[in-house]
Amino acid sequence: MQVSGQIAAIQPPPITEVKSWLAGRTFPAEKPLIDLCQAVPGYPPPTELIEHLKQSLDDPLTFKYSPDEGLPQVREAVCSWYQRYYHGSPTAEQLCLTIGASQAFWLTITSLCLPGDEVIVQLPAYFDHPMGLQALGIKPVYAPFDPETAGQPNLETINNLISPKTKAILLVTPSNPTGAVIPPAQITALFELAQARNISLILDETYNAFIGSSPHQLFNRPDWTDNFIQISSFGKTFALTGLRCGALIAAAEFIQQTLKIQDSMVVCQPRPTQLALEFGCRYLDNWVTKNAAMMQQRHDQFKATFLATKTDFELTASGSFFAWIKHPWGSLTGRQAARKLVDEANLICLPGEAFGPGLEPYLRLAFGNIDVTQIPEAVARFEQL
Ligand SMILES: Cc1ncc(COP(=O)(O)O)c(C=O)c1O
Repeated sequence: MQVSGQIAAIQPPPITEVKSWLAGRTFPAEKPLIDLCQAVPGYPPPTELIEHLKQSLDDPLTFKYSPDEGLPQVREAVCSWYQRYYHGSPTAEQLCLTIGASQAFWLTITSLCLPGDEVIVQLPAYFDHPMGLQALGIKPVYAPFDPETAGQPNLETINNLISPKTKAILLVTPSNPTGAVIPPAQITALFELAQARNISLILDETYNAFIGSSPHQLFNRPDWTDNFIQISSFGKTFALTGLRCGALIAAAEFIQQTLKIQDSMVVCQPRPTQLALEFGCRYLDNWVTKNAAMMQQRHDQFKATFLATKTDFELTASGSFFAWIKHPWGSLTGRQAARKLVDEANLICLPGEAFGPGLEPYLRLAFGNIDVTQIPEAVARFEQL
C-alpha cells in the first residue's frame, strides 16, 4: 500500500500509541490502572442537555444538513456566549461551526498557508498542530520551551523566528500540555507583534471556559479581524467531546474563504451537535462555572499533594487539566519513562517528546478525567517508584 513520505514521517497519534501499550494487560484490583492520558472531562453533560437531544430525535430536520457555517440561531447563541465570557464578541458572520477545534485548525491552516510556508509554534506544542502542519507540507518553526516561565511565549524569541515565509504565530492558551494561561496583556502584545509583522496570531482556546475570567480583550478591538484567528472547542466546555463541537472565529472574508474547504471536507457540523451547542450556550453558564471551579479544585489538590510528596519527579508547570512533570531518569526518553510507569506504577500518561522535539525529559499528566478522591493514589504511584 502506498503512503506519501510526508505522511509516513509524522509521529503516530500519541494517545493511540500509548493506549496500545495496554493491549493484553490486566491490572489487579488492589492497584488498578490510573489513566492520566487523555484530556477529557470525566463527567457527562447535564441531564437537561441530554433530554433536549433526545427530544430532537423526533424531528426529521435533526437528520438533515445545515448551512456550511452552521444554523444562524446557533451561531447567534455562540456569539452571546462570547459576549458573556469575553465581554466582546465576534458577529455571526465571523464564525463557522466545525467538527471540533481540530477541524477549525485544518480550515485555518489550509486557508492561510501554502506548502513551504512556516508557522511559529510554541513548545511544548499540542501534538495535533505539528502533525497537521507536517501533513500539509508546512514547516513548524519551534519557539523553545523555557521551564523557568512554564513555557510562556517570549515576544523577542518569537519576533526573531519570523521569516519572509512565516504566515502565523500559533499558540494554545490555556496550554495543552502545561496548563499555563497566557495573560491578557501578553496576548495583546503578541497580537500587536503579529500586526506589526503582517502575519496572523492563531490562538487555540480549547480550554477557555476553565480560566474563570475573561481570557483576553482582543474582541473589543475593531482591528482584531486583520490579524487574529481563534480556534474554539465546546467539547470540553459542555463535556461533548464525542459530538465533535468546535468553532472557527475570524474576519468574515476569511470565513467565506474557509467555507470552500468546509464544503468539500465535511459540509457542516452535524445538526445534533449544533442543537447541543445552542442549548449549552443558552442555558448552561451555571453548570460550566460549577465544573470549572471543580476542575480548578482538582488542580489545586493535585498540585498541593504532588508538592507535599517525596518524589524525584519535578512539577514543572500545571493548570486546570494538566500537569507537566520532569521524570528523574535522565538516560530514558519520555516514551521509555511513560512505559516504565505503565509497567511499574500501573499509570498511563503521555511522553514529553509527543509535544515537540527535545522534550524527552518530560511527561504530561491529564488529571481532568480522574476524580478528586483518586488524586492521592495517583500521586502516591510516583512516590513509590
Ligand atoms: C489544545 C487542543 N486543541 C484542540 C483539541 C481538539 O479539540 P476537539 O475535540 O474540539 O477537536 C484539543 C483536545 O484535546 C486540545 O487539547
